[in-house]
Amino acid sequence: LFPLILVALLSYLLGSVPFGLVMARLFGLGDLRAIGSGNIGATNVLRTGNKLAAFLTLVFDAGKGGMAVLLARAVFGEDAAQVAGLCAFLGHIYPVWLGFRGGKGVATFLGVVLALDWRVGLACCASWLAVAVLSRYSSLSALVASGLAVVWAMAFGRADLTILVLLLAALVYVRHTENIRRLLRGEESRIGADKT
Ligand code: G3P
Repeated sequence: LFPLILVALLSYLLGSVPFGLVMARLFGLGDLRAIGSGNIGATNVLRTGNKLAAFLTLVFDAGKGGMAVLLARAVFGEDAAQVAGLCAFLGHIYPVWLGFRGGKGVATFLGVVLALDWRVGLACCASWLAVAVLSRYSSLSALVASGLAVVWAMAFGRADLTILVLLLAALVYVRHTENIRRLLRGEESRIGADKT
């Protein structure tokens, strides 16, 4: 049990590094929480107009989730990898450093799933991209992509991932409550529409 607790703790800490805030600081973009949706993720960094900072946020937020999974798998095996993925994701959405008010978990979700099974991960990324191209809503893309993860897991014969991807998707939905409300009211902002 001790190794699993260690994996959980270290993954949580890794996941809790808010790269959106780090990038915003590095690029001198101001306080992300006072911009756009106030979220600390890549979509909101993009609202500053700085595409590189947004891209780096996406890569690092996804990368920390993927790293946690790969490291845990290398040292402790497959079960630990799933625990690591869950805890890195929880670190991102509920970081101790920010009073447990973190991000919405989309990039970290994609990184975790990619590292757990690259086929399922790629299918989720493709789903995100397809909805983003069609709707230009980042949040809707995230809702569809995370919701479909369980379908892709089944399709690729990874029934062992079912509980984890359902749990992660449920948390993505919880974190998108405001976005869902805005989408239903037709008030959600589209990608590229509102440079603040
Ligand atoms: O990645 C989060 C995205 O789905 C929504 O972000 O800033 O539009 O609330 P935001």
